[in-house]
Amino acid sequence: MIRVEDLIFQYPKNDSPTLKGLSFEIQSGEVFGFLGPSGAGKSTAQKVLYKILTGYQGKVEIEGKDLNLWDSSFYEKIGVGFELPNHYLKLSGRENLDLFASFYPKNSGRDVLKLFEMVGLEDDMNKPVEAYSKGMKMRLNFIRAIQHDPAILFFDEPTAGLDPVNGHKMKQHILDLKKSGKTIFITTHNMNTADELCDRVSFIVDGELKITDTPKALKTKYGKEAVNVELKNGESDEFSLKDLGENADFINFLKKGEINRIHTLEASLEEVFINVTGKTLKI
Ligand SMILES: Nc1ncnc2c1ncn2[C@@H]1O[C@H](COP(=O)(O)OP(=O)(O)OP(=O)(O)O)[C@@H](O)[C@H]1O
Ligand SMILES: [Mg+2]
Repeated sequence: MIRVEDLIFQYPKNDSPTLKGLSFEIQSGEVFGFLGPSGAGKSTAQKVLYKILTGYQGKVEIEGKDLNLWDSSFYEKIGVGFELPNHYLKLSGRENLDLFASFYPKNSGRDVLKLFEMVGLEDDMNKPVEAYSKGMKMRLNFIRAIQHDPAILFFDEPTAGLDPVNGHKMKQHILDLKKSGKTIFITTHNMNTADELCDRVSFIVDGELKITDTPKALKTKYGKEAVNVELKNGESDEFSLKDLGENADFINFLKKGEINRIHTLEASLEEVFINVTGKTLKI
């Protein structure tokens, strides 16, 4: 669906490229993510792909067609949830949505109330956007991106600025879009968002992709295949998962006292990130 080969991009006023030769593919129906710290080039890469930034080197193909050869019909195919919501503040949420819908020839089927209900903004749809909180603007941003029913969706930091409840709902909406067959490219520096949403994730640092794989494969590869047992008296120990059922030390330890908790030592995506890139995800 999306194929990127050796993508290099330099902002005209900068001395060196921001994207230093990215190669990746996004399959149809996949949720693909860029996970990386602030300034890594996540938004820049997306902006090249949705043609806000031009003058790149390398090859970008969307549905087998070179990005440079797509005409304005490209914008009917894609939906973009920008990193920073850029609404008309004096207009209401509904007026904003209608205005953007008017740019698309095929929007007759959309149900505006349903869209607002989807993100819990139905009571606020007629209020001016200047009266919206950041999270409300993000939610409006989301329905604006999907209202023309595009096949490919770009979400730049979709859970940023949302409280845990709305963050969870946003992730669910994205998974629902995946279920309906959309191809989705997200950026995030939140490992939970990447872990929960992405079929595959690329770690990006300083304009370079360090590794691409499924979150599960990354965690298994870089995690410890072991279990940690903690007793109520505070004693704890680690045991390899290999032949665990026949490990006498493990069985004896379990009998030693009341068990407080047992957990596997699978790495978190953040630990894997640090392991692979030597950098943290913190801003
Ligand atoms: N318009 C611009 N002109 C010049 N340099 C820019 C411009 N926009 C971004 N950059 C630089 O490009 C680099 C990557 O920025 P980008 O916004 O793509 O990072 P990001 O990974 O999206 O970060 P964040 O997590 O903070 O959103 C940064 O060093 C930034 O300073
Ligand atoms: Mg960004």
